[in-house]
Amino acid sequence: MTQKRVLSGIRANGRLHLGNYLGAVKGMLELQDDSRYDTFYMVADLHSINIPYDPKVFQGAVRDVVLDYLAAGLDPEKSTIFIQSQVYEHVELSYLFSTVVTIARMQHLPTFKEKVKNYPENVNMALLYYPVLMAADILVYGASLVPVGIDQEPHLEVAREIAQKMNDRFGLKLPFPQRFATQGEYVPSLTGEGKMAKSVEGSSILLTDDLVTIQKRLAAVPTDLGKGETVPTEGGVAALLKFCELFLGDKRTETLANQYKQDGIKYKDLKEELAEAIYAELKPIQKRRADLEADTETVNRIINEGAKKAKVVASETLSTVKEAMGLV
Ligand code: TRP
Repeated sequence: MTQKRVLSGIRANGRLHLGNYLGAVKGMLELQDDSRYDTFYMVADLHSINIPYDPKVFQGAVRDVVLDYLAAGLDPEKSTIFIQSQVYEHVELSYLFSTVVTIARMQHLPTFKEKVKNYPENVNMALLYYPVLMAADILVYGASLVPVGIDQEPHLEVAREIAQKMNDRFGLKLPFPQRFATQGEYVPSLTGEGKMAKSVEGSSILLTDDLVTIQKRLAAVPTDLGKGETVPTEGGVAALLKFCELFLGDKRTETLANQYKQDGIKYKDLKEELAEAIYAELKPIQKRRADLEADTETVNRIINEGAKKAKVVASETLSTVKEAMGLV
């Protein structure tokens, strides 16, 4: 049986939060433990430098993601774990891909438009190029399945378009990658507005947060009187109920929704119950992380071996594409 390849990555713009964990890492774990898949998981460091950043502390940020990955259960025995920039084939392939991508298509992506609107002084070429590099990340491994959050769907669409064009023009057989969705594909922000994001103050719970911090962060979630005719589908209360669904289960969430329509919910108690449930899931991860932090050598070895293993596959795809394009 030939295994299907899987690739995913997370940027190195800060410690991982529950959104990354539930939306991406959980999916990565599920596929890693399924023998039908050959899994490649990277730190997308090249995707992290298109916004202002401090090169002096960047190595630490990249390593933090590796540590979070390993602590959460990514296993170098089962998955190839590596750092994107250490496998230069991604960048070379992305350049080849860029020849079939129009500027207009990239300018119309919601992610790009959002950046232009929010940071007009920082619209660099790398931002425009982001989806092309992401397509190369995936297709350089011939990956057909990508565990990521729902916000990445437009980028996967671009990857499929690129595969189609490359296949049509150069007679290649690149797959059309699909997103692998998890139950937590959309994790709301604790502010009650939008999704959980690193860049928004008070939005997230980090994998490294202790119980007191989690309690404090949940305490700040905006709520209402606790009862009403219809259960809110937006804002802080909806966010809390989504966390209930993810950490306390559907049944408990249903009970709470009914309570909202009858006697009312006591948010103080609910937030406490949630904080404990979230911490119970994070505690073993934090323990493993502390052990790994103390073992620099093992982590270095995992990173080096990951890059080597990734390169074997990536260089093969790159050669095939170059040949098809008449470059060798
Ligand atoms: N764009 C992804 C994010 O922001 C990170 C990423 C880069 C990625 N390359 C990838 C995800 C390839 C999946 C596959 O979360």
